[in-house]
Amino acid sequence: PVLVVDFGAQYAQLIARRVREADVYSEVVPHSWSTEQLLAKEPSAIILSGGPSSVYAEGAPRLDPALLEAGIPVFGMCYGFQAMVQALGGTVAHTGLGEYGSTQAQVSDTSSTLFNGQPADQSVWMSHGDSVTEAPDGMRVTAATSGAPVAAFEDDERRLYGVQWHPEVMHSTFGQRVLENFLSKGARIEADWTPGNVAEELVTAVREQVGEDRVLCALSGGVDSAVAAAIVQKAVGDQLTCVHVDHGLLREGEREQVEREFVEATGVDLIVVDAREQFLSALAGVTDPETKRKIIGREFIRAFEQAARDVVEDRGDEEHPVKWLVQGTLYPDVVESGGGEGAANIKSHHNVGGLPDDLQFALVEPLRTLFKDEVRQVGLELGVPEAIVWRQPFPGPGLGIRIIGEVTAERLEILRRADSIAREELSEAGLDREIWQCPVVLLADVRSVGVQGDGRTYGHPIVLRPVSSEDAMTADWSRVPYDVLATISNRITNEVSEVNRVVLDITSKPPGTIEWE
Ligand code: XMP
Repeated sequence: PVLVVDFGAQYAQLIARRVREADVYSEVVPHSWSTEQLLAKEPSAIILSGGPSSVYAEGAPRLDPALLEAGIPVFGMCYGFQAMVQALGGTVAHTGLGEYGSTQAQVSDTSSTLFNGQPADQSVWMSHGDSVTEAPDGMRVTAATSGAPVAAFEDDERRLYGVQWHPEVMHSTFGQRVLENFLSKGARIEADWTPGNVAEELVTAVREQVGEDRVLCALSGGVDSAVAAAIVQKAVGDQLTCVHVDHGLLREGEREQVEREFVEATGVDLIVVDAREQFLSALAGVTDPETKRKIIGREFIRAFEQAARDVVEDRGDEEHPVKWLVQGTLYPDVVESGGGEGAANIKSHHNVGGLPDDLQFALVEPLRTLFKDEVRQVGLELGVPEAIVWRQPFPGPGLGIRIIGEVTAERLEILRRADSIAREELSEAGLDREIWQCPVVLLADVRSVGVQGDGRTYGHPIVLRPVSSEDAMTADWSRVPYDVLATISNRITNEVSEVNRVVLDITSKPPGTIEWE
């Protein structure tokens, strides 16, 4: 793989995505890895990401010069670029000429490895306080900006490359071309990886992992668990039992969709567990978001464990107890939950962080290395119906984290009705693919005064949170047409009597997360 060494920036995942978009497989690894650990992965190239620190800051991550002498092609970006300079004996200085945001770069050699076939004038995305004032020996400077006299360099002999800017962000106009040039011309890697052609590999890996054992799959109704189940079904067919836990935190019609659509498409063996009471009583009185997530995660596993015992009992097959649990964990979950060391644990996603200590299953996570769009490609490859493949993301803890305040049966019912109206109208307006997802949130402890007919009302607000995103790591609020919003607002306030106000969340991520809890 191409290893992206994460120097502590949110950018590392984005770089990995961009590399994969160039049809080359890549993984994010923490900067704390030693040179031996990195080389043990037999990387075809190494990319050094940006990072929040100055190379002079106390405790700033350093680059081992030995990594640059190992004969592996290396590409440094932003902090990674400066770390290379420091390791190779150039000069990084506090020039007082930091650059932030869109900047003009002047490329001095448009036939160089990185800049081949590109214009000399390029818009690039900068974010640096220190600047490189002197390139290390043997490095050929190939670009400059007004604040960075050494903004890019190359050494084809040692196959070392670097740019001061962030080629992975869209604002760097030729960023993807620079990256592709590094991969194809600098590192000479063949571009033959696609999510479609890894489906077979994933199936084989699952077959090897689980052997003859029985497997249980938690089927939520979402894309991830559906594609994960399809992979396992293909791998070990009749050893798989899917369990759909109705935790009472689902949206309208979801249970029926899983029961019908998915089973028809894949022919999996499905059990539906009605755990609505169990979850509601476990959540009684709880308002703290992280506590809710932990409880929901815990009850999920408990419900599965019960289902596992039932499966064994049903089959009267004590020889083959259920040993494995399939989880639709995705790569961003793995990295965000601290799998990529150094990144803060933002929310404990129940399928990674919140598992109880007494867990009785080993996990099969066939999607652990994939981004969402790649999961969809794999799903299509495996014949999962488009209606499921293109379903918008819905969090495992469901409506439980969309009721701000205590979760009760009445509040769930209010939210379910409002959510169903919003979904119906957004679909009707043809916005399903344009919008990444639209959480509908009930502010259950907030009340405001309204008027309806001749009477005063004192009801709850509903928040609409439509977002556009590429991978849920960052997001922007969707510019849903006013008339669609107006219809949703009218319908919700008319049809859901407990709600007298509909508000629109116009916060990007960051600073807001997509979900409210
Ligand atoms: P945030 O709120 O962190 O959400 O910006 C990012 C994406 O993740 C989804 N999400 C979850 N998915 N289990 C899941 O399977 C969870 O616990 C969970 N929490 C958030 C969220 O809907 C969005 O797509």
